Amino acid sequence: MDGNPRRRVRNDEEQYGLSPVGAEVPVGEATAPGAGDAGVEGGVGATALLVAAARAIESHRPDALVHDPYAEHFVRAAGASAGWPLRPEQVPGGGADPLWGRLGRYFALRTRALDDALREAAGAGIRQFVLLGAGLDTRAYRLRWPEGTTVWEVDRPNVLAFKERILAHAQAVPAAGRVAVPADLRENWAPRLPAAGLDPAAPTGWLAEGVLLYLPGAVERHLLAAVDELSAPRSTLCYEIKPVREVETLRDSPVYAATRDRLGVDLLRLFEGSPRPDSASDLAARGWRCSVQSPFDHTRRYGRGPLPEPDDALAANRWVFAEKTTSTAG
Ligand SMILES: C[S@@+](CC[C@H](N)C(=O)[O-])C[C@H]1O[C@@H](n2cnc3c(N)ncnc32)[C@H](O)[C@@H]1O
Repeated sequence: MDGNPRRRVRNDEEQYGLSPVGAEVPVGEATAPGAGDAGVEGGVGATALLVAAARAIESHRPDALVHDPYAEHFVRAAGASAGWPLRPEQVPGGGADPLWGRLGRYFALRTRALDDALREAAGAGIRQFVLLGAGLDTRAYRLRWPEGTTVWEVDRPNVLAFKERILAHAQAVPAAGRVAVPADLRENWAPRLPAAGLDPAAPTGWLAEGVLLYLPGAVERHLLAAVDELSAPRSTLCYEIKPVREVETLRDSPVYAATRDRLGVDLLRLFEGSPRPDSASDLAARGWRCSVQSPFDHTRRYGRGPLPEPDDALAANRWVFAEKTTSTAG
């Protein structure tokens, strides 16, 4: 990584033919040409460990929003997370700590809100779920799924391999049918799902939690178009975005600075820098009803979680909850 955020983008734009080839736009480290799959030990894969550590800590809070018994196994096993805290009492500064206090609680809140959205979809009769950029998400193991449910998990091969190794060692048993789909979301991953058993004629619950931020805008558009094509009416989709590019002045916001300086995970550098699409409008045009929400709405809903603050690294985040209301197939 040479530190120059402006690179010539060619791979994603050319591949999907969605915007002019050769445009000079800033790209994040995660999508820089040649960015490899270091599993969870580096690059964007390490962000999966960051979220897992937050879930491990949250699971031991007296007012926990989620209980993830597997999260700490990942953190203990990976070299990149050596020395990271696993319990609230190991966090100096406790809830006031910008990293494990505020950002950690953000991840816990996001996990809980999306757990509940998936539970609601399952309650409405959906029996197939796809986790895009699944990382170390253990929902296939820890949620109570109705009989006949299958969960497909898409992430890069080395991330999924690490996850499966650790969960096997912990003797974790999936609570639904679970199908791993090792794939790069910048490539042509969509046909792999029907090939792996997904039925596009039945509704699907889709989740893209904490992943679109790392993908170029063109890939986000392509990804959501692929989701739409594979979705029958009544399908649901939840995803997280930052609709605006964050400015350099936020570089030293407490959350970003703490994550960079203490963990070596430079989120602002990993975030993709190309202009973000208006995905909710694109989905609406395809027959999806979308609700775009601030995480702070959910802090109020659950009675805990981060609140707004000056120079806020979380202020731009939006969670989108969508349901397909009409058929656009054919
Ligand atoms: C912040 S983690 C979130 C993981 C999980 N969704 C969660 O919330 O626990 C981001 C995940 O996106 C995955 N990811 C990033 N870019 C990807 C790509 N091009 N293809 C597949 N997965 C990708 C990473 O490997 C990582 O597991």
